[in-house]
Amino acid sequence: MEESTLKATASAPAKIILCGEHAVVFYEPAIVMAIDKQAYVTVEARSDQAIYIKSRNLGVSGRYERGRFKLGVGGGAAKSKLDPIRIAVEKTLELAEKKMGLNVLVDSDIPVAAGLGSSAAVAVATIAATGKLLETSLSKEKICSIAYEAEKTVHEQPSGIDNYISTYGGITIFRRGEKFTPLEARANVILVIGNTKVSRSTGLLVRHVSELKEAYPKVINPIIKAIGRISVSAANALQDGELKRLGELMNVNHGLLYALGVSSEELDQLVYAARRAGALGAKLTGAGGGGCMIALVTPDKLEKVRRAIRRAGGIAMLAKKNDRGVQVWEEK
Ligand code: MEV
Repeated sequence: MEESTLKATASAPAKIILCGEHAVVFYEPAIVMAIDKQAYVTVEARSDQAIYIKSRNLGVSGRYERGRFKLGVGGGAAKSKLDPIRIAVEKTLELAEKKMGLNVLVDSDIPVAAGLGSSAAVAVATIAATGKLLETSLSKEKICSIAYEAEKTVHEQPSGIDNYISTYGGITIFRRGEKFTPLEARANVILVIGNTKVSRSTGLLVRHVSELKEAYPKVINPIIKAIGRISVSAANALQDGELKRLGELMNVNHGLLYALGVSSEELDQLVYAARRAGALGAKLTGAGGGGCMIALVTPDKLEKVRRAIRRAGGIAMLAKKNDRGVQVWEEK
């Protein structure tokens, strides 16, 4: 007789946006790449009906039972941090038409609230692990669409780019509401991520751009369109293996994001430090307002750019492409 699955674990990658953030919310294209930082989620069955969630990296835990939340550790903010994970679990249970209690353990090496898609990666891994435990076969398409539902509870009007790339991996030109098409990049994209260590809220930054757009449509709409055009030109540059062109386009993109009011002093400092150290291009990545920037480098400038980012006060990390997207396995 086959043994039943006792535990399932899934991993899902973080991402960087090479160009097109914010404009992508308004249906312009963006280029996004999954990177080698991952969220890991392990799910196991409980003997009761509660959903217990513990996030090691956030330092919070709690139990949901009969519509009530009971705090484990992490204080007043714990519930709002754990709610999106609970929603991902509940939506997967609903889809599988099952009712049962689960323990959910989240561990992640993705910096949180830093523009690298941590919440989406956790949602994607949670759904995949829960689906596996329930022995429900979930396609990547399904995982991605449930994760989008969870993302909606974290950010107000997400474009879906984070859950998309975390599910599928690789590098792509993403258009909101369209099917995934991987991008054939001829060039070896070497990126240094600089983390300002300033946390921020994607929802608030997206709202800020929306409000600016409402207030000055004739000024802001062309900026958003221009960002979309940058993404198209950058996709061509990638396909032609033209890294210098890609770097220039990234610089222009940062200028336009600055114009939209989503850069910050800390981000600008890291961007300028990286450029001075010889990066081909540097820009903020993700929602901005803090969080991370990226610098496109050639191998000979890698160390110099890393050091420059550190000296300017940031945490520097090398980002490699992740081609696999979400992965799931059983643990008996
Ligand atoms: C999120 O990583 C980037 C934004 O474009 C928001 C979104 O696309 O949902 C700022």
